[in-house]
Amino acid sequence: MWRGVIEEYRAHLPVTARTPVVTLLEGGTPLVRADRLARHLPDVALWLKYEGVNPTGSFKDRGMTVAISKALEDRSRAVVCASTGNTAASAAAYAARAGLPCFVVVPAGGVALGKMVQALAHGARVVAVRGSFDDALRIVREGVPRLQLTLVNSINPYRLEGQKTGAFEICDALGGAPDAVAIPVGNAGNITAYWRGFTEYHCAGVIDERPRMWGFQAAGAAPLVLGHPVAHPDTIASAIRIGRPASWEGAETAVRESGGAIEAVSDAELLAAQALLAREEGVFVEPSSAAPVAGLLKRAREGRLAPGLVVCVLTGQGLKDPDAVLRTERQPEPVPATMEALAHLVDAALVAR
Ligand code: F0G
Repeated sequence: MWRGVIEEYRAHLPVTARTPVVTLLEGGTPLVRADRLARHLPDVALWLKYEGVNPTGSFKDRGMTVAISKALEDRSRAVVCASTGNTAASAAAYAARAGLPCFVVVPAGGVALGKMVQALAHGARVVAVRGSFDDALRIVREGVPRLQLTLVNSINPYRLEGQKTGAFEICDALGGAPDAVAIPVGNAGNITAYWRGFTEYHCAGVIDERPRMWGFQAAGAAPLVLGHPVAHPDTIASAIRIGRPASWEGAETAVRESGGAIEAVSDAELLAAQALLAREEGVFVEPSSAAPVAGLLKRAREGRLAPGLVVCVLTGQGLKDPDAVLRTERQPEPVPATMEALAHLVDAALVAR
């Protein structure tokens, strides 16, 4: 049975026999081959690392199991994070399991419905600020020393340590490293963590080569592409609506050392990629998580996609953000409860195909 990322990768993580392990058995997520989607990407073998099946529905759980376990070990009195939603949901769940109070600071109106509901359900104290995620992170960083709280954003080094296990799992599943990894970039912690994971496996001789790291930001929130912070980040992908990434240098290092790139995709490209994943592969992700697929499709269209084995990291579950789908999809109008009504709809739909 899968034992969660701390037990599975204990030798690679900053835990000791005295660390109380707080786990929901996160990690061990599917690496799914995506041949139908790959038809749009000439000469690419495409795999999807589906992080949406983690316990709280995103990759954050990998880092949170380590951060919350260490907070408990260090006798923290409460934890706090700023979040666009997924960190909040994950912190709330793992803090609940540890018996620690949890405060989450979010941009008012900037968190998808499912994530807000998760934080509330797990009993976190939710503080909604009139400002952006970057404002929320700023006040949390300022407040941590005075309030004596443990910060569980990815600035907390234990978070990235846990998240690097995603890279280990990809290599373990493939029996080596892929040629490239495509990943969404917001606060830039995850691309930093994956690069660390590949580098550690490389140093340990587990893999011969490290993959190229391709990061994708939303065009309206692309500070790493522009080379300067964005004061008012704007995109439908609320998870990555971030103008001043905390792990800026980590992302740049990953790209430089791997010979990769960070590029931008438009909201229209994000939504098209989200729909394609759902309709051609049966994999439902939130808009931010579609960024790597949107990016690969764009590279292919522009003739800039090298052949090889590519893994897309799909960071979050689609159910978290129902409003994003309901922008384009309508709910059905009720019809009479008769076989004829059903037959009429089936015929019309299949003729239209
Ligand atoms: N994908 C999803 C679904 C996310 O929630 C995030 C970040 C990212 C990608 C980007 O990862 O920040 O490490 O570059 N969400 C954070 C949060 C900011 O508060 O939940 P990153």
